[in-house]
Amino acid sequence: MRLKDKIAVITGGSTGIGLASAKRFAAEGAKVYITGRRQAALDAAVSEIGNGARGLQGDVAKLEDLDRIFETIRDEVGHIDVLFANAGIGLLAPLGEITPEHFDELFNINVRGMVFTVQKGLPLMGKGGAIILTGSTTGVMGTPAFSVYSAGKAAIRNFARSWALDLKGTGIRVNVISPGPTETPALSEVARSTGNKDAMYDGLISMTPLGRIADASETAAAALFLASEDSSFMTGSEVFVDGGAAQV
Ligand SMILES: NC(=O)c1ccc[n+]([C@@H]2O[C@H](COP(=O)([O-])OP(=O)(O)OC[C@H]3O[C@@H](n4cnc5c(N)ncnc54)[C@H](OP(=O)(O)O)[C@@H]3O)[C@@H](O)[C@H]2O)c1
Repeated sequence: MRLKDKIAVITGGSTGIGLASAKRFAAEGAKVYITGRRQAALDAAVSEIGNGARGLQGDVAKLEDLDRIFETIRDEVGHIDVLFANAGIGLLAPLGEITPEHFDELFNINVRGMVFTVQKGLPLMGKGGAIILTGSTTGVMGTPAFSVYSAGKAAIRNFARSWALDLKGTGIRVNVISPGPTETPALSEVARSTGNKDAMYDGLISMTPLGRIADASETAAAALFLASEDSSFMTGSEVFVDGGAAQV
């Protein structure tokens, strides 16, 4: 019970890595708040997570949604121990086909949404608090047709470095978890959008020393480590859960 009686908030907690982490955190004793845009997906997830989990509908790109979510959490439980800013989307566009809409959608959700999630959640956090940001292996690699997404993930990496300094003296830690290819609705959708899902999966598997796509529960195990006292002397760090893909 590494998160016994802790309050954990996971944005984008209704599917994929966020949901797997919510289930793992709840199994370790946390009361988990998950967020996402689709109410039906939140409802389904809450019934899977258990341990008093709550779903709060909202879009991280909308500041008023973030305000409402954190006000609700403040009114219900008064504080946050673990803030996992995980919500994100993946979209492909090669150089030459990057539109302002593509750029804005990715940066508004993945970067701006992450920044204001943390800034608005921070007043509810205190000594011993853990902030986790979801990065990606693509933040340290080049990936064809994925430059805007990847640049956003590289930005997330730096926010953790700089925020570790801004948080000096607070007892609050901030770290990045960077998954490699992980079986989730998002990966499946990005692969499908290439027109040849199997070829993309084969390519990802071939560049991964462990020779497979991750299960989201494996990412959740590392998120649990960053959320708990097991990582008590880590801040500003990046933990890769990538089967070695970005390490070789
Ligand atoms: N899967 C991978 O291979 C992989 C690899 C590296 C990094 N990542 C990162 O891991 C994180 C989770 O992705 P995933 O693969 O688990 O995808 P996923 O299964 O599609 O889950 C994404 C979650 O985020 C929510 N979400 C998306 N846009 C949102 C918004 N604007 N506001 C609030 N919630 C939003 C989704 O719910 P709604 O759609 O209902 O809003 C869902 O709960 C992302 O940051 C992604 O970039 C994934």
